Amino acid sequence: MTMRETEWRRKAKDVGQEHLFAFWDDLALDQRDMLLAQLASIDLDSVPTLVEKYVRNKPDFSPGGASIEPVNDYPNDHTNPRRAWDRAHYHALGEEMLRRGEVAAFTVAGGQGTRLGYDGPKGCYPGSAVRGRPLFECLSRWLVGAEKRYGHAVPWYIMTSPLNDEATRAFFSEHRNFGLDAANISFFQQGVVPSFDAASGRILLSDRHVIATNPDGHGGSLKALYASGALADMRGRGVRHISYFQIDNPLARAVDPVFLGLHAHAPDSSAQMSSKMVAKTEPGEKVGVFATIGGKVGVIEYSDLPGELASRRRADGSLVFNAGNVAIHALGVEFVEGLSRAGAGLPYHRAEKKVPHIDLETGRRVEPSAANGIKLETFVFDAISMCDASLVYETDRVDEFAPIKNASGSDSPQSSALLQTERAARWLESAGVRVPRKADGSPDCVLEIDPARAMRAEDLR
Ligand code: UTP
Repeated sequence: MTMRETEWRRKAKDVGQEHLFAFWDDLALDQRDMLLAQLASIDLDSVPTLVEKYVRNKPDFSPGGASIEPVNDYPNDHTNPRRAWDRAHYHALGEEMLRRGEVAAFTVAGGQGTRLGYDGPKGCYPGSAVRGRPLFECLSRWLVGAEKRYGHAVPWYIMTSPLNDEATRAFFSEHRNFGLDAANISFFQQGVVPSFDAASGRILLSDRHVIATNPDGHGGSLKALYASGALADMRGRGVRHISYFQIDNPLARAVDPVFLGLHAHAPDSSAQMSSKMVAKTEPGEKVGVFATIGGKVGVIEYSDLPGELASRRRADGSLVFNAGNVAIHALGVEFVEGLSRAGAGLPYHRAEKKVPHIDLETGRRVEPSAANGIKLETFVFDAISMCDASLVYETDRVDEFAPIKNASGSDSPQSSALLQTERAARWLESAGVRVPRKADGSPDCVLEIDPARAMRAEDLR
């Protein structure tokens, strides 16, 4: 027994995870090294707390006794009497930020994409309606367009995970970075957390010498932005604000001058973290909701929003708590730095999942047919309640929200293609083009518009 092994064995035992050495005697030397290296990369000291708090118990994220009010958002219709605002002014301010090179684009692409069931990073999935452009390319087109229009490149930061980093980088070089300058694209990896056995609280083994882990959630992006040096790189380039969006929404505006202008300059924004919302279609729609909770803006997950509040309506029939979270944010570089320096971690959320693993008795691999494991993830929107003030801007669902999450049905490639077509049809019609429509009003064609050519309907006129 080497000293290194003895130490790690003791440490694992101290935190109730000695079984991680169950197959040690049968492992080859390089496998032993791999196991020890993986142990060194995990914060073992935190494991007993994680098990107690998230595996044996379910933390309560419901708002409890705090007051819950709707958010005072900036409505999509800037002439709305509820809150009229000067759209052209903020658009001009946002364009100025882009001209000065103060904005970076940031895509979180470290997820496992299990629901889509695609073999590879989700960003490689052919997501655009007509040309089948990969999702990475759909988003890259905004940056190509912004550079042309504003005369300044928008640097692009892409978060991967240890599970898809290599494949993602290879995809970019295979596609020659989609026409972007490699010097303006940075990849960095998010962290991972061990996956646990729900019944025993033991960390699962995915192989006899490999600890089962999962990426630490999109909330891990804030820590990873700092730890990877991406924030320092942004500072060096004069970037002050980050445009944050997910890989799975091909309609996301990677750069949106109006939103950026509001985030950085609106009098009620702290310029720390701002968000886009779309109006929820029905009380049961499974999106988190922005609300003012105990006086501060935050997000309540759909499962935590009391039914009575979810279905409460205004006199005009619209939902009172309608501010659906579409996971598009703007973040101040200074804010993300401050959180990381202060070590202000985001809370974990637990998800019950099927986690393939090695049976400790037989050494055989088990492919569970029902959820057996607990995966822990942090969510980026939990940082909103850490802001001094946080702005919410309503955007049009058809303009900006066509997620690809599932293989079929809602939020699938098919539903996304219909939404992409509908948006393109509306833009074309507003420019005077006749688009054929079916009896039910839906376009009788398939369309997509390249953001490098038109970033908004007005650009087509
Ligand atoms: P989802 O919550 O939809 O998860 O991620 P997912 O992993 O892509 O898909 P499922 O749940 O396994 O089917 C929303 C966004 O957050 C990113 C994803 O890549 C996607 O852009 N994400 C999620 C990360 O970057 N890291 C994570 O750990 C989780």
